[in-house]
Amino acid sequence: MQKVLVLNGPNLARLGSREPDIYGSTNYEGLVSAVTDLGADLGLIVEVRQTDSESELIGWLHEAVDGGIDVVLNPAAFTHYSYALRDAAVQVTKSGKKLIEVHLSNPHTREEFRHNSVISGVATGVIAGFGLTSYLLALSAIAS
Ligand code: DQA
Repeated sequence: MQKVLVLNGPNLARLGSREPDIYGSTNYEGLVSAVTDLGADLGLIVEVRQTDSESELIGWLHEAVDGGIDVVLNPAAFTHYSYALRDAAVQVTKSGKKLIEVHLSNPHTREEFRHNSVISGVATGVIAGFGLTSYLLALSAIAS
């Protein structure tokens, strides 16, 4: 079975209590089970991880490159400024694997600093603004 890493950046473990008007009322555990359940339905082995550490997130992207694993990535605030994460993300897509950037909110409707993503230019595709469904759409895209 095809493996997929679903990687979440800083503050995403706070889902449910963190600005629910923007990010919704589902908590992180709810996200993990929805994503894992859909993955199983689609015939994927999905592993969901979260970290507040840029270094750890980069290490997980290296793991995806070395293991030939597709990635769904919510880089959270790193989206907007982490060239180090971009340099790791491009290795995934250049290795021939998919890297889909997802966001719960639509950053383009929010503060100016969120309008730019340094990741999008090296991602296979970007899905934003559908809450938890952004992740489910990304998994469907990988399965298809
Ligand atoms: C986010 C959007 C980012 O701007 C923000 O820093 C996040 C979450 C989203 O999923 O909507 O932490 O990536």
